[in-house]
Amino acid sequence: MRIILFSSQNYDRDSFLAAPLPAGMELQFQPARLNLETVALADRHEVVCAFINDDLSAPVLERLAAGGTRLIALRSAGYNHVDLNAARRLQLTIVRVPAYSPHAVAEHAVALILALNRRLHRAYNRTRDGDFSLHGLTGFDLEGKTVGVVGTGQIGATFARIMAGFGCTLLAYDPFPNPSVEALGARYVDLDTLLGEAQIISLHCPLTADSKHLINAQSLAHMRRGAMLVNTGRGGLVETPALIEALKDGQLGYLGLDVYEEEAQLFFEDRSDLPLQDDVLARLLTFPNVIITAHQAFLTREALAAIADTTLANIAAWATGQPQNLVLG
Ligand code: NAI
Repeated sequence: MRIILFSSQNYDRDSFLAAPLPAGMELQFQPARLNLETVALADRHEVVCAFINDDLSAPVLERLAAGGTRLIALRSAGYNHVDLNAARRLQLTIVRVPAYSPHAVAEHAVALILALNRRLHRAYNRTRDGDFSLHGLTGFDLEGKTVGVVGTGQIGATFARIMAGFGCTLLAYDPFPNPSVEALGARYVDLDTLLGEAQIISLHCPLTADSKHLINAQSLAHMRRGAMLVNTGRGGLVETPALIEALKDGQLGYLGLDVYEEEAQLFFEDRSDLPLQDDVLARLLTFPNVIITAHQAFLTREALAAIADTTLANIAAWATGQPQNLVLG
């Protein structure tokens, strides 16, 4: 069985080659992103293994199906980038890795909170430059602060547990409350209450039609002045230009992003020799109280190993007619 892995980086190659390869599988690592220009590379590959910024829109899926692809094995939990109606019509099977390490993502959200609060990005540059002054580096104790968790599935619940350990008061918003989060003492409230009361807000819900631009000019205005917003969910949860206005005004006090609505054209590549064409991202990067990472929250050894193991197991299960971790099939 021929399997092509689009958007594969060296760390993907390492983790897939370290995993036990079921008999009869042949892996082809392809660094290019899947899109209409590159889709021909998948011809005669029964299985296409895709990541979050690969294009799985209707025209690409149609071309994949015409080229002989039958299974799309996502190396991600999120599947907001797949046109499910088109996939259904083309009788493609879609599988995913529902949970590879909630700790990886939750801990990265906490890393952003700590770095923003204690201004580690500024301190790091300052001391390397021989500047040992402390002005502008004042942080706050996390203990006793109110943290709002939007989406309390696997990652949100793990994040809530860590923040409970810091002694934070937890507010949660999720249409399906999680008993393990309630057991931490979290109070489930509506989104407006959460936004109005929390000093730190962290987004851990999937991107859907309902959650698109959940954070927008109106919701930013509703937040406590000087609040911190962290998004390790999906870029589309936030209306990005509205963040710039809220940061300029001081309404938003801190911003940590691991995801960005327009990231597909930028992230996972070294573009340091090129002029940045995205003016919104360029403006965000000028604020001293903003840290942006390029969708790296998943990037731990444990998560990479789990992605490789589960993906290969998903493909093997599908090949025996007993598909698992189905999104569509
Ligand atoms: P999960 O499915 O376990 O939990 C998602 C939770 O969000 C569920 O409890 C659901 O009821 C809730 N939810 C759905 N719509 C909501 C809404 N409109 N408002 C509030 N809550 C809502 O998913 P998991 O594993 O916790 O992942 C969450 C998201 O994190 C993924 O969908 C993905 O977008 C993102 N993610 C980001 C990664 C990164 O590297 N930055 C890596 C992995 C996931």
